[in-house]
Amino acid sequence: MRLRHKVAVVTGGTSGLGRRIAEALLREGAQVVCAARSERDMPAITELAGPRAAFHHVDVRDPDSVRGLMSFAQDRFGKLDICVANAGVTRDGPVHRLDPKEWDEVLDTNLTGAFHCMQAAVPYLQLSAGTLINVSSALSTRVSPGATAYSVSKAGLDMLTRAAAVELGALGIRVNAVAPGFIGEGMGSRLSDNDLVWDDYRTRLVSGRLGTGDEVGRAVVFLASPDGGYVNGHVLEVNGGLQWA
Ligand SMILES: NC(=O)c1ccc[n+]([C@@H]2O[C@H](COP(=O)([O-])OP(=O)(O)OC[C@H]3O[C@@H](n4cnc5c(N)ncnc54)[C@H](OP(=O)(O)O)[C@@H]3O)[C@@H](O)[C@H]2O)c1
Repeated sequence: MRLRHKVAVVTGGTSGLGRRIAEALLREGAQVVCAARSERDMPAITELAGPRAAFHHVDVRDPDSVRGLMSFAQDRFGKLDICVANAGVTRDGPVHRLDPKEWDEVLDTNLTGAFHCMQAAVPYLQLSAGTLINVSSALSTRVSPGATAYSVSKAGLDMLTRAAAVELGALGIRVNAVAPGFIGEGMGSRLSDNDLVWDDYRTRLVSGRLGTGDEVGRAVVFLASPDGGYVNGHVLEVNGGLQWA
């Protein structure tokens, strides 16, 4: 129970990796607001944690909506200690054919959405010496043809993490990221379902298997808890080892 009495917000906390991150935080005793545009797996999360889990509607692309989310966490649980910017989307296509609207959707959600979370959470986190954790990706530092918009958004998120850690250190706020590799839940499960892509990618997995959402959740718990108290401005790869040409 390393996070007893802590209050967390997890964007995209209603499905896939976000659900597993929320569950890992709840298992450690935290109170968690799961936020997204729809409730998805919320009934299962509430079943696990009862009133320690709450849902709030948010669209991370809208700064007013994100400010409303942080205010909800404060009203519901009395403070905010941990903000996990996990909400993300991917739109595949080579750079010369990708619809500019899809490019905007990916950048607005994955990068600007995390920036909105940061801005809205800081007034609360500076009162609690809290922490921000962004969910990046193995593709922030590796080229995968067809995933350029996604990779660019996550590369920006890595730098946002490092820069914000320096700027927010004086306020007592730590900022880190986890960069999951290929996980058998959420958008990662679509990869292993595609034989063509999977035949190539499976050879790159040093651990010989996909990761689990729970393994990502445990890495987030480490960064959020006193165990990770001297880790700051770091992007923690959670990928079982990846070989990449
Ligand atoms: N799964 C993997 O293998 C993997 C690997 C590396 C990194 N990641 C990262 O992990 C994070 C979670 O992805 P996932 O795999 O769990 O995918 P997922 O199952 O599709 O979950 C994405 C979550 O984000 C929410 N979301 C999307 N757009 C949003 C918006 N504008 N405002 C608020 N919430 C929004 C979705 O809910 P609504 O649609 O209801 O809003 C959903 O809860 C992403 O940042 C992704 O890049 C995943």
